[in-house]
Amino acid sequence: MAYENLRLDFEGPLATLTIDRPKALNALTTPSLRELEAALREVAKNKDLRCLIVTGAGEKAFVAGADITEMAGYTTCEARDFAGLGHRVLAMLEALSIPTVAAVNGFALGGGCELALACDLIYASEKAKFGLPEVGLGLIPGFGGTQRLARLVGRARAMELIFTADKIDAAKAREVGLVLEVLSAEKLLPHCRAVAEKIARNGPVAVTQAKRSVLFGADADLRTGSELERQSFAMLFGTEDQVEGCKAFVEKRAPSFKGR
Ligand code: CAA
Repeated sequence: MAYENLRLDFEGPLATLTIDRPKALNALTTPSLRELEAALREVAKNKDLRCLIVTGAGEKAFVAGADITEMAGYTTCEARDFAGLGHRVLAMLEALSIPTVAAVNGFALGGGCELALACDLIYASEKAKFGLPEVGLGLIPGFGGTQRLARLVGRARAMELIFTADKIDAAKAREVGLVLEVLSAEKLLPHCRAVAEKIARNGPVAVTQAKRSVLFGADADLRTGSELERQSFAMLFGTEDQVEGCKAFVEKRAPSFKGR
């Protein structure tokens, strides 16, 4: 499918989704969110994929937020629908069965930071800048930022970032636990691809179950989360991949997983 505001590239078991609207630092409009939704559907349908990388086009921005010129004239109802669309699309991204890696190459502000937060792993280039600056516009984060940032870095740190509207650099983002590693601009995508390829070599059904267990467990009490883990663990013993993985270990060879 042809997209105007993003690119979706496939290479073996990896897909790379690049938000590409350089004239506005990749800011997200309603049409770009709808394209993102269609692209995620395309990714979800492709059963050969093992990992998705999300990044921004150009050297300056990952995504500089939701598009402020579009939002400026919104009525309350339009704002509710826009936030609803953003939430739905980012929930879709979060719920993909394959792991997702955000390669943050520049500004990740507002909706851009929220896009990264909906990914499983976040890596950043030294040029990256993160922030939820919405209160400076008289708004609050509208695509899940108040929820996902607090869950990732803790309530007080999230409140500090949201209340001050501060932009933090990649090193600070790593210090607070928002980013896993900081790399030079040239090494960012190769690093993310290497991580994605490593994931792709593991048992695909197991990786999906591990993701589900962590994600659903994070929103549940320990007892419920542990039970979910136990059920997933047991379910994997009905897969060909479990038989192959354990057999390959015993036979001292690399496993050949089929994803079933
Ligand atoms: N929406 C619309 N246009 C944007 C944009 C955004 N979020 N961010 C940047 N742009 C546009 C600029 O208006 C500018 O367009 P023109 O060339 O037509 O003037 C172009 O992108 C380049 O940007 P700047 O000239 O401003 O570049 P800079 O280097 O001076 O500054 C920046 C970069 C600090 C990222 C600055 O552009 C900025 O502050 N952008 C807004 C960031 C922001 O507030 N994001 C949160 C949006 S609200 C939100 O996301 C709500 C939500 O949760 C759903």
